[in-house]
Amino acid sequence: MEHVQLTAADLLLRPWRDEDAPAVRDALRDPAIAQWNPQGGDPIDDEVALLWVRRRADWSTGGHVSMAVTAPTDGELLGSVSLHRIHDGDASIGYWTVPAARGRQVAVRAVVRLTDWAFTDLRLHRVELCHAVANPASCRVADRAGYAAEGTLRESYRYGDGRRYDEHLHARLATDPQITR
Ligand SMILES: CC(C)(COP(=O)(O)OP(=O)(O)OC[C@H]1O[C@@H](n2cnc3c(N)ncnc32)[C@H](O)[C@@H]1OP(=O)(O)O)[C@@H](O)C(=O)NCCC(=O)NCCS
Repeated sequence: MEHVQLTAADLLLRPWRDEDAPAVRDALRDPAIAQWNPQGGDPIDDEVALLWVRRRADWSTGGHVSMAVTAPTDGELLGSVSLHRIHDGDASIGYWTVPAARGRQVAVRAVVRLTDWAFTDLRLHRVELCHAVANPASCRVADRAGYAAEGTLRESYRYGDGRRYDEHLHARLATDPQITR
């Protein structure tokens, strides 16, 4: 898949670059991101962060599209949004925002923008979003981004503290009403 970049009001979504590694290292060390977006057992050092951005910058398999969410004015890293498990018209979406950028609708706007692109350009039909029931901020992002709640998955995912948590499954269909943010 070819790299693209997407703009939304006050946001630039673009492919990851090597220069993002120090900001990614700091973000992945944030306790909330470490808990709700666990990256496996490795301590997050410079090397792990560089491998993370390189893996995410490689879209060649067509199985994922991963983007840095940045401020268009100064390029500051605000967060991450990505489509995973892209296959046969389906995908899953994931995201985080750095602590300093939270509470400004960054996650909602990034999720809405990437989802719209997935429906119009990738011609996907259904995008799923899962979050731990114990993570209400993520539930709010899902609701505000137009992802309808479809049910609760029991002890379905092991998060950063090693415990399995119940998750809410949300999804958007290409035929759902458009969301404007
Ligand atoms: C969840 C997360 C992505 C939200 O990012 P954000 O940029 O602050 O989100 P937004 O500003 O777009 O929207 C946040 C919404 O959640 C609400 N919210 C924030 N903290 C909350 C909490 N503890 N309980 C309930 N709602 C909460 C905000 O009020 C806002 O809702 P509103 O628009 O109705 O006011 C961010 O907190 C984060 O990265 N957390 C750690 C990692 C994570 O949880 N990733 C998602 C894994 S599924």
